[in-house]
Amino acid sequence: MEEMQTAQLGRNGPTVSVLGLGCMGMSPGVYGPADEAEGIATIRAAIEAGVTLIDTGDFYGMGHNEMLIRRALEGVPRSKVVISVKFGALRDPRGVFGGNDGRPQAVKNFLAYSLRRLGTDYIDIYRPARLDPAVPIEDTVGAIADMQRAGYVRYIGLSEVGAETIRRAHRAHPICDLQIEYSLMSRGIEAKILPTTRELGIGITAYGTLSRGLLSGRLPPPDRKDDLRIVRMPRYQRGNVERNMQLVEALRQIGQEKGASPAQLAIAWVRSRGTDIVPILGARRRAQLDETLGALAIRLDAADIARIEAAVRPDLTAGTRYDAPQMAHLDSEAHG
Ligand SMILES: NC(=O)c1ccc[n+]([C@@H]2O[C@H](COP(=O)([O-])OP(=O)(O)OC[C@H]3O[C@@H](n4cnc5c(N)ncnc54)[C@H](OP(=O)(O)O)[C@@H]3O)[C@@H](O)[C@H]2O)c1
Repeated sequence: MEEMQTAQLGRNGPTVSVLGLGCMGMSPGVYGPADEAEGIATIRAAIEAGVTLIDTGDFYGMGHNEMLIRRALEGVPRSKVVISVKFGALRDPRGVFGGNDGRPQAVKNFLAYSLRRLGTDYIDIYRPARLDPAVPIEDTVGAIADMQRAGYVRYIGLSEVGAETIRRAHRAHPICDLQIEYSLMSRGIEAKILPTTRELGIGITAYGTLSRGLLSGRLPPPDRKDDLRIVRMPRYQRGNVERNMQLVEALRQIGQEKGASPAQLAIAWVRSRGTDIVPILGARRRAQLDETLGALAIRLDAADIARIEAAVRPDLTAGTRYDAPQMAHLDSEAHG
């Protein structure tokens, strides 16, 4: 396995491993059941392999994910990891989402709870998961900046916002990275968002690199009731998923020639789009982590990239990246 390379997130952000680990799927009820012990082992193995960027959200498993990360990080020097936390999503006791809260006092409240659950004095990158349309972004990032000055936060990030919001936020307080979906199937950021982050010197932490697993060619069991992909994600619905798997089959054929799995090609492709883009992979088992890390050794030349982009194209992909109600919450889609 290759030695882990690092990259700086944005012009003024922290230096992180070129692949990050997203822990969402390690909490139950997101992508079906989750194996806690295996999740913890995966986080530890990732750190052992040189991964330094660990991403979570306070609403993943409603606090469960942060507490899992805390256990995984026991004994790991705090300075060895860059912890990225999203906040703001409101939920009820059944887990149903009820909008986002970006009010300054709410930001500080969310932060206080996250610090306690993570068992840490500071969070490296703190970001609103979605724009709260009722609160000017300057106020939300202003509250994070207050917490930065007080030492509880190191850097300010954003998630799923469009070009204008990025500009406004960055004008108010320097932003280190934008977390947003980016993959062979979801290339919407290339039109306006990526040129904007590049102009401003803001990094991208890309999620959905595998379109939630589709691009690995392995599907979750179709009867799983607590797997959001099966329940509501358009690309996984009957009629769409078969068409999408045909695209993955074309990717698999290219991979066979290069000794790479479809997932590894999908990861290598995102990495080939620029050193300002750090994919955060949702590996939740050590076997998936190994596959993910193996992508670092794959070199794509221009001909490979052209073939890969012809095999899996957004316009050939069946289904949007979220369902309609969730798409409506995305500033990145409304004002790309
Ligand atoms: N900012 C946001 O709005 C936002 C939204 C979503 C996620 N995120 C972050 O991004 C992270 C990545 O999540 P994602 O869902 O977008 O992830 P992804 O990397 O596109 O897909 C992850 C899923 O793919 C499957 N998989 C199969 N092979 C894999 C491999 N080699 N490596 C990794 N996964 C493999 C796994 O599902 P099975 O185990 O079921 O096979 C896994 O749960 C999350 O953990 C979270 O931290 C952020």
